Amino acid sequence: MTQRTLITSAIPYINGIKHLGNLVGSQLPADLYARYLRGRGQEVLFLCATDEHGTPAELAAAKAGKPVAEYCAEMHAVQAEIARGFRLSFDHFGRSSSPQNHALTQHFAGKLAEAGLIAEVEERQVYSHADGRFLPDRYIEGTCPNCGYDKARGDQCENCTKQLDPADLIEPRSAISGSTDLEVRATKHLYLRQSALKDRLDGWIDSQTDWPILTTSIAKKWLHDGDGLQDRGITRDLDWGVPVKKGTEDWPGMEGKVFYVWFDAPIEYIACAGEWAAAQGLDDAAWQRWWRTDKGAADVRYVQFMGKDNVPFHTLSFPATIMGSGEPWKLVDYIKSFNYLNYDGGQFSTSQGRGVFMDQALSILPADYWRWWLLSHAPETSDSEFTWEGFQAGVNKDLADVLGNFVSRITKFCRSKFGETVPEGGDWGPLEAALIARLDAGLQAYQGHMDRIEVRKAAAELRALWVAGNEYLQEAAPWTQHKTDPERAAAITRLALNLVRFYGVISAPFIPDAGAAMLAAMGTTDARWPEGAEAALTALPAGHAFSVPDVLFAKITDEQRDEWQARFAGVRT
Ligand code: 2FM
Ligand code: ZN
Repeated sequence: MTQRTLITSAIPYINGIKHLGNLVGSQLPADLYARYLRGRGQEVLFLCATDEHGTPAELAAAKAGKPVAEYCAEMHAVQAEIARGFRLSFDHFGRSSSPQNHALTQHFAGKLAEAGLIAEVEERQVYSHADGRFLPDRYIEGTCPNCGYDKARGDQCENCTKQLDPADLIEPRSAISGSTDLEVRATKHLYLRQSALKDRLDGWIDSQTDWPILTTSIAKKWLHDGDGLQDRGITRDLDWGVPVKKGTEDWPGMEGKVFYVWFDAPIEYIACAGEWAAAQGLDDAAWQRWWRTDKGAADVRYVQFMGKDNVPFHTLSFPATIMGSGEPWKLVDYIKSFNYLNYDGGQFSTSQGRGVFMDQALSILPADYWRWWLLSHAPETSDSEFTWEGFQAGVNKDLADVLGNFVSRITKFCRSKFGETVPEGGDWGPLEAALIARLDAGLQAYQGHMDRIEVRKAAAELRALWVAGNEYLQEAAPWTQHKTDPERAAAITRLALNLVRFYGVISAPFIPDAGAAMLAAMGTTDARWPEGAEAALTALPAGHAFSVPDVLFAKITDEQRDEWQARFAGVRT
C-alpha cells in the first residue's frame, strides 16, 4: 500500500511579507520534504495557510488604513503569489479566517468544555469608553515609569525593555484613539486546563524517541521548568477572530469575545484540509482520511515543520486541544524544528524591516538560487548566518561551477561531435563501474538523509553526487578519446547525458526549476525516481533527441554582490 504523509508548515502571520529566515524555518524545508516524498511515489498532502487573527493583524490593517478583512484578503493573495514564486508546492494554501476554521475552532472549544477542560476566569482589564472595547495590553500606551519614554506599551517598554503591566504606565491612553478615558473593569476569559493533561502530554513526549533534540528539549522545559505547565488563556477582547462559541451554541458571558489566535491557528491545519477538499470539489471523507484516525488516517504519517519559537504550541497546546477533545483526530508523528537564520552580523527582523524579504529576494534572482543556498545552510543544529559573500560562494561553486558546468559541458560537447541525439556505440569499462558504485552509495546516503529530514546533510550528499559526475567526465575525457576512439567517446557521452536526467530527477526537491529544465533539455518527461544508478543511466537510449539548455545558473559577480549588500543594508519601511 502506498505510504501517505501529511505535511504542514507553520502558518505565517498575515501582517506583511516574510523574510528569508522565516522561509527557511518552515515552508521551504517542508516543501523539500513534500517534493522528495512525491518523487519517491508517496501520496502527500502538503498544507499551509495564513495566520490571520490577533492583535498584529488588526494593527497592520489599521496602519494600512483598511478594514481588517479586506487587508487580510489582499495580503493572503500577496503571500500566495510569493509562495508560487518560490515554487512552494502546497496542495492548498488556506486561511485561518476560513468558515471551516471558525466552525472547527468552535467545535473543539465545545468538546473541551464538555470534557471539563475549560475554566472560566474573572480578570480585571482596561476598558476604553471612546473605543467601546477592552484594550489588550499592547493597545495601551503611556509613559514608562522606569525610563520616562512616552510611548511605552502596556506589556513592555520598547526603550528600556522593562516588562510592564498596563497599571504601571503613567498617563495611560488608548493606542487606537489616544483617548485617556479608560477604566479598569472585570471581564471573564476562558482558560484551557493544560495542567490537567500534563501527565498525558509528558508520557506522549517521552515516547517520541526519534524527535530532534531541539523539539523535545523545548517541550520538556515547558513541562517541567518553574511551576510546570500552565493553563492558557484562549479568549481575547478583540473584534477580529473566531467568535467564542461552544460548538454551535452561544457561550453565556462570552459575548463579543473571540478565541486567542494561538488557539485557532493550529486548528487551521485541520480546517485547511477541509478547504482543500472543498476547493477540489471533494467530500468530507476526502479530507477526513488525512485527519481522523477512525476514517482512514490511522496509517497516515503526520510531519510538522516550524521555527523553534513555535515548538511549545505544537508540542503542548495543540496536542492538548486534540487529546482533550476526546475525539480521534490525528496527533503529529514528527516535529522538525529549526533554529534561527541571522542576517549579516545581526538578526532578521520583521518589525524593524531588517534583512532580505521574500519578494525582494525574487526580484533579484530566481527561486532555485535561494532555495539551494538556504536549504544547504538550514539552521538545524544551531543558528546559521546569511552573508552576501557566503551566498555568492555557495551559488557560484555548487550551482554554476559544479552542476551547471557539468550540464553545459557535456551537452555542448555532444552537439559539436555527435549532433543533438544521444550517440550510439562503444562500451562501458572500469571507470563506469566505479562511477555506478559511487552513485549507488551516494543515492542511498542521500535518501537516508532525506528520509530522516537531515536537510544540510542531504544537500551535501547531493552536491557530492554532482561532483562525482564532474570527476568522472574529467577522468574519462571524451574530448580526448574522441580523437583516437570515437566509439568510446560515444559511450561516455551517452552515460553523461543520462546523468543529466538522473541529476534532474534527484535534484528537483531542492531546485525544481533547474530539475525541470534538465529533463526538458534531455527531451524527456520520465521523472521516475532512480531505483539504481545502472538502470537510470540507460534510460535515454541511443538516438534519443536532446537540446543544449540555456545557462542553468549564472554566476553572481562581485559587483552584484556589493550592490545587493548595500541595497539591503538598511531597513525596509
Ligand atoms: O510564528 C508564526 O508565524 C505563527 N503564525 C505560526 C503559527 S503555526 C500554527 F500553529 F498554526
Ligand atoms: Zn522604559
